[in-house]
Amino acid sequence: MNKLLVLPGDGIGPEVMSQVMRVIEWLSRKGRGEFSVKEGLVGGCAYDAHGAPLSDETMAEAMAADAVLLGAVGGPKWDNLPFASKPERGLLRLRKEMDLFANLRPAVVFDALVEASSLKPELVKGLDVLIVRELTGGVYFGEPRGIETLPDGTRRGVNTQVYTTPEIERVARVAFDLALKRDRRVCSVDKANVMESGLLWREEVTRLHAAEYKDKGIELSHMYADNAAMQLVRKPKQFDVIVTDNLFGDLLSDCAAMLTGSLGMLPSASLGPLDDKGRRRALYEPVHGSAPDIAGKDSANPLATLLSFAMMLRFSFNMDDNASLIEQAVQNVLKGGLRTADIMQKGMAKVSTTVMGDVVLRELDKLA
Ligand code: IPM
Ligand code: MG
Repeated sequence: MNKLLVLPGDGIGPEVMSQVMRVIEWLSRKGRGEFSVKEGLVGGCAYDAHGAPLSDETMAEAMAADAVLLGAVGGPKWDNLPFASKPERGLLRLRKEMDLFANLRPAVVFDALVEASSLKPELVKGLDVLIVRELTGGVYFGEPRGIETLPDGTRRGVNTQVYTTPEIERVARVAFDLALKRDRRVCSVDKANVMESGLLWREEVTRLHAAEYKDKGIELSHMYADNAAMQLVRKPKQFDVIVTDNLFGDLLSDCAAMLTGSLGMLPSASLGPLDDKGRRRALYEPVHGSAPDIAGKDSANPLATLLSFAMMLRFSFNMDDNASLIEQAVQNVLKGGLRTADIMQKGMAKVSTTVMGDVVLRELDKLA
């Protein structure tokens, strides 16, 4: 049985997740896939319940699951907690302990939503960029780190940007392998002009490409991170796959998300190393956050979480048909003119979270 751990989290997380639960029931009802689903707490709600943003029990369940689906974490209620207790720590612990080193963030512009982008339609129509972000290393986790008080009473904050060959190689490999199934172009992003860790990044990516992927027709280019940010908003369609480190990936993926004009539409996957059975630990989550301002109002967009679930079906459960079915249902619903508030456009019909779930299910019934 496919073991799934569901962590709805904070804010709009539980609302969007309940729409996914309906699709899971639909798949089972139609005999298309069975999942044993466990639910747990992560983020602020976990802190409120157990005094920590992720309990050891939930961590153990995540390790035992075939895949984890997460909603969102955080909210103003927990903003002033110390670092170790912040909701985000729950997410970072999952990433680190599950060794989810490869974060896949596709930025795809749906035809029906071309007008939602702040860029001109011709720049983004048909856009399909995949950002592969290193997720368990770099300055997010590097040591030494901390804030210290110096003898003269001034304070000093330290973080360390650090990468090793294996860390660079394994994430680059994921990017190259994914590019093989796409347009075969990888752009590696670093700051090799100012950082040694960036220089090593560039050298290792170049070496791996020459050794294993050049022959397979993969084209590799390099870009400095500042230029990549500029090129993303100047001419985004020049990119196919971008591979970069944890911090640059954090920034560039928000930028790429905005190109689509619809953060509420974007899924993501975080993958761990292959085990000897050829399986990977994996966590899937929408790119949008917990949106506390609209939480509990039944107005959030559940599509990013649904599309994250579709990515899970594809990458963790080899259920490409079910994944495509869900993606097609989402496309059709948008074509039909239905929109949640975040992607609302003139002349369209605004619907609630629940109604969006209803129409996706109706569309699935038609397609299946
Ligand atoms: C993201 C988020 C996280 C990050 C936060 C919530 C810790 O911005 O997933 O991009 O910085 O990685
Ligand atoms: Mg981010």
